[in-house]
Amino acid sequence: MKKRPLVGIVMGSTSDWEVMQHAARQLKDFGVAYEARALSAHRAPALLLEWVEALARQGARCFIAGAGGAAHLAGVVAAKTTLPVLGVPMPSGHLLGLDSLLSIVQMPKGIPVATFAIGEAGAANAGLFAVAMLALNDPELARRLQGFRKSQADAVAAAKLPGLS
Ligand code: RP5
Repeated sequence: MKKRPLVGIVMGSTSDWEVMQHAARQLKDFGVAYEARALSAHRAPALLLEWVEALARQGARCFIAGAGGAAHLAGVVAAKTTLPVLGVPMPSGHLLGLDSLLSIVQMPKGIPVATFAIGEAGAANAGLFAVAMLALNDPELARRLQGFRKSQADAVAAAKLPGLS
C-alpha cells in the first residue's frame, strides 16, 4: 500500500522540476513519503489551495515550495496552512534567481516561509531540512541522518588534492 505523504513538494511550473527533483531525491533516499505537484499560485490558485488542504488533512508535516520570478507560491501555501513551509527560489532566466530569492525571503511579518538557497543546493537542503524536522520524532530517521552527515565528513577526510601540473 502507498504510504501517505509526509511532505508535499509543490512547484510553480513543470519547468521547475529539474531543480526541485533534488528535494524529492533527498526524501526518497531517506525513505520519506512525499507527493510532488506542479501547481501555479497564479494560474491555478484554487487547485493549489485544495491540494494543500487535502495533503494537510492526510497527515503531511511540511511543504516544500519552489518557484521563480515573482515567486509567491511559498507564501500562498503558508497562507493556507500552519505547517512549516520551506521555500526554494528557482534560478530564473533574467535575474538569475535573485528575483525569486527576494520574493520568497521577504515575507511580511506573521506568515513565515523558511527560505533556502537558489537552485539545486536549496532544493536538496530543503529536502534535508524536512528530513531533520521529521527526525525529531523518528529515532531511526535521526540515525540515518547522522550516518549521512558522517559519510560527508569521511569524504572530506579522505579527499586528496591533485599534485602540481
Ligand atoms: C514561475 O514562473 C514558475 O515557478 C517558473 O519558475 C517560472 C516559469 O514558468 P513557466 O513559464 O516555465 O511555466 O511561476
